[in-house]
Amino acid sequence: MFEKFLRSINLRPFKRLISAVSEGNFLGVDIGTASIKAVELEASTTSGLPRLKNYGILESYSHLDRLNTAIQTSSLKMLENETAELLKTLLNKMKPQAKATVASIPSFSAFTSLLDVPFLPPQELAQAMRYQAQVFVPLPLNEVAIDWVPVGEYTDEKGVRKQQVFLISVPNEVVNKYQTVFRAAGLSLKALEIEGLSLARVLTFGDPTTTLLVDIGARSTAIGVAEKGLLKYSAQTDFSGSSLTQAVANGLSVSVRRAEDLKKQKGLLGQGGEYGLSTLMLPFLDVILSEVKRVRDIYEKNYNSKVERVILAGGGANLLGIEKYASLQLGLPVIKADPWKKIEFPPEAAPLLAEVGAPLTVAIGLGLRQFIS
Ligand SMILES: Nc1ncnc2c1ncn2[C@@H]1O[C@H](COP(=O)(O)OP(=O)(O)OP(=O)(O)O)[C@@H](O)[C@H]1O
Ligand SMILES: [Mg+2]
Repeated sequence: MFEKFLRSINLRPFKRLISAVSEGNFLGVDIGTASIKAVELEASTTSGLPRLKNYGILESYSHLDRLNTAIQTSSLKMLENETAELLKTLLNKMKPQAKATVASIPSFSAFTSLLDVPFLPPQELAQAMRYQAQVFVPLPLNEVAIDWVPVGEYTDEKGVRKQQVFLISVPNEVVNKYQTVFRAAGLSLKALEIEGLSLARVLTFGDPTTTLLVDIGARSTAIGVAEKGLLKYSAQTDFSGSSLTQAVANGLSVSVRRAEDLKKQKGLLGQGGEYGLSTLMLPFLDVILSEVKRVRDIYEKNYNSKVERVILAGGGANLLGIEKYASLQLGLPVIKADPWKKIEFPPEAAPLLAEVGAPLTVAIGLGLRQFIS
């Protein structure tokens, strides 16, 4: 299984593969809890930036109906079928030309760690990574697929050149599930990567600012530290957009769907007298932000580097007033993700694209993978 993953999904062989097909279009597909998002990009000869061909978002409300139930208990099989059907529906609407697809795996499905290792020939590095995976991954090695990406290099205090390698391992069960879903939808899955890598690529490529990336999704919040397009650290918390919705539903004794609408309409800006929405949501947002602070502290302590800013992505980044509040709490500049900066698109589409930028960040980063390496 280890070899299979390396052959079909490892980043390095993939880079060679894509250079052969980079003329064509590519699909980035982000299967989230609340929606499936897809972005189709094509090479452009005019600006040098890839061009947006098409995008699609299929929202599903089933996660809201499940909010009140305990942990998802349906078998993986059930979810696979459901997901494949949703993906097919989205593709029917989008009608992309591309079959070649890069998809993301949520951070909560992967184990990651940043390792400092000497420079080694590829074979020896592979051995070292397998060994490290045994130490870091709480599953037997034959049940996980592992991959690694060199993300930095430095000279240590003894003058020895070292490299930092980001080690990722994903249970085979998860990889197989994704392969099944994409095959069923008629797409050719060229690569899987954890969502933090896509976020880092699209939000920090070519930019040396050390950045905390916070993707607030429906089910979880992914937190990473990145610079120059490379992910240096990755963590996640289950406190997320749904936690805010649930707080509103409980606090106002309204249905989860009604709470979701209110949250989207008023955000943190609603006046206290009317619904007191922000009073209900802030304790949960504070939990997310305290996790962000924890990641920042760990990163700064261990990697001797200062975080300079925060970029918010995911649907939760559209919460009205979140940037100002987060900036006050974190004492750092906080901005909303603008993943369109790296993409060519028709100017008249700009107002439409602004709203969907933050939720589409991961899908755009996935699509960009063939153009930025
Ligand atoms: N305007 C808005 N204001 C506040 N929250 C919003 C807004 N728009 C979307 N959200 C929230 O964003 C979340 C969905 O974000 P996103 O589409 O990034 O999730 P996902 O990728 O499907 O989930 P996950 O990554 O956790 O699997 C939901 O909780 C939704 O309520
Ligand atoms: Mg998501």
